[in-house]
Amino acid sequence: MTQNESPSGKSRDKRRLVAKRDGFFSKIGNQGIALTYDDVRLTTGYASILPDNINIESKFSKNVGLKIPIVSAAMDTVTEAQMAIEIAKLGGIGVIHKNFSSQEQAAQVAKVKYHLNGLIEKPICFDENTSIGEILASRQEKDFGFHSFLIIDKDHRLTGILTKNDFDFCEDFSLRAKQVMTKRVITASPGIGLREAYRVMKENKKKAIPLVNNAGKVAGLYTFSDVKRILSGDSKSFNVDKNGRLRVAAAIGVYDDAFERVEKLVREKIDLVIIDTAHGDSKGVIETLKIIKKHYDVDVLAGNISEPESAERLCRAGADGLKIGQGPGSICTTRIIAGIGKPQVSAIYECSKVASKFGVPVCADGGLKFSGDIPIAIGAGAHSVMMGNMLAGTKESPGEFRFHQGVQYKVYRGMGSLGAMESNKGSRERYNQGKDDLVPEGMEGMVPYKGPLKEVIHQYIGGLKRGMGYVGAGTIEDLRTIAQFVRITEAGKAESHPHDIVITREAPNYQKQQ
Ligand code: IMP
Repeated sequence: MTQNESPSGKSRDKRRLVAKRDGFFSKIGNQGIALTYDDVRLTTGYASILPDNINIESKFSKNVGLKIPIVSAAMDTVTEAQMAIEIAKLGGIGVIHKNFSSQEQAAQVAKVKYHLNGLIEKPICFDENTSIGEILASRQEKDFGFHSFLIIDKDHRLTGILTKNDFDFCEDFSLRAKQVMTKRVITASPGIGLREAYRVMKENKKKAIPLVNNAGKVAGLYTFSDVKRILSGDSKSFNVDKNGRLRVAAAIGVYDDAFERVEKLVREKIDLVIIDTAHGDSKGVIETLKIIKKHYDVDVLAGNISEPESAERLCRAGADGLKIGQGPGSICTTRIIAGIGKPQVSAIYECSKVASKFGVPVCADGGLKFSGDIPIAIGAGAHSVMMGNMLAGTKESPGEFRFHQGVQYKVYRGMGSLGAMESNKGSRERYNQGKDDLVPEGMEGMVPYKGPLKEVIHQYIGGLKRGMGYVGAGTIEDLRTIAQFVRITEAGKAESHPHDIVITREAPNYQKQQ
């Protein structure tokens, strides 16, 4: 072991590197300059770790972890249930947008939470007199991906279960549930654990086991496929809560909008809510944050901000996480139409410096264009990155396809664009505007179709890990601590991109910016 690799040598070295980076940013800041992604690169450092040993687990907020530090944006062309499910399966988290009504938004969250269940605490039950046709219609309407429904009597006692077989063999959909259901149900008591539930299901060849309390009422449900997946470790890379359900977040506004949404979201076991506004350092956000923290046991992330003083105010008000970014977004015109904002890398550095003192994780929201921007955001202090554009146009993002000059595109629009604000209260509230005489702060457009999210994320994570390897960082916390920056010139930027070549084959992780 060399002197630098001894524990005390390492921590001395870390302190020196932190001081060096602080020096870099304070020199820039003292000149009244702020930097963004294209202005900087990370410098390489001695690496003793192999890429396979790099750990990219992180935190989105104080109590909500991430297996990969990627969050999908709360935008109506980026994150609805399908995106949230897929990104959580890949280890990140999705934020369901708030251009839904509070009911619709809670239903989207429920879809994510019910998608993969260890223990389903509140399984879907139907009254025994409901017709099979009604149950099937409800299943289709709510887009439930499962087939087992518990059947109860008027006193909410379990009387049977409707399984896939029962549906498959039923030819008359006007029949009542009680005429079709399987009556001999193997049940267990509420305290049963995952392994024991698995054993009972296997022994009895049952695909589901309802938990029933002393009064005969339903107290939960385990399903075989989910329990098996959890126990066999297939879901190791999934980002799940303590009950084995996929994690999901949702955006809320301020005051009444927030309270109405939180009430419903908490009922669906939301992991975290985000007070999602264009100006997070405001009375409405701070008061709403304090009230939610007082009345609910849920993590609250607040934003957006770009100044260290704003970070301090939100941390003091009880935020469990901060979202940084005022104007970096690819669809954002705020900096142009309002003249405000701070280039993103400096904003991340300054805000995270303050948030660290409070132990509050920071998410860098918007403005990322390439996978290399992820290690830069984290090197500047972020715990995670939120992406709109880089995840829009995937198979899982909502929105229509468009064809343009033979190429397939998907729509991508700002939540403060004219279209989004004209049709949605949630968008208007994010930008604090009424219904008439709108002043948009975003654009509507389209991005090339990118294919399945899994392939896209593979490249982003690949880029992050390569960056960490070059820096010599084995963990996200390491990268946050030891990353060093250089400022580059326009010539340096031109040199960084491919040049002096006619590209004949596209790479999956590089598209020339228009
Ligand atoms: P992108 O990843 O660069 O496309 O930026 C996405 C981020 O931009 C979102 O997470 C929001 O914070 C922000 N954003 C979304 N819609 C608008 C808008 O209309 N104007 C300004 N910022 C927006």
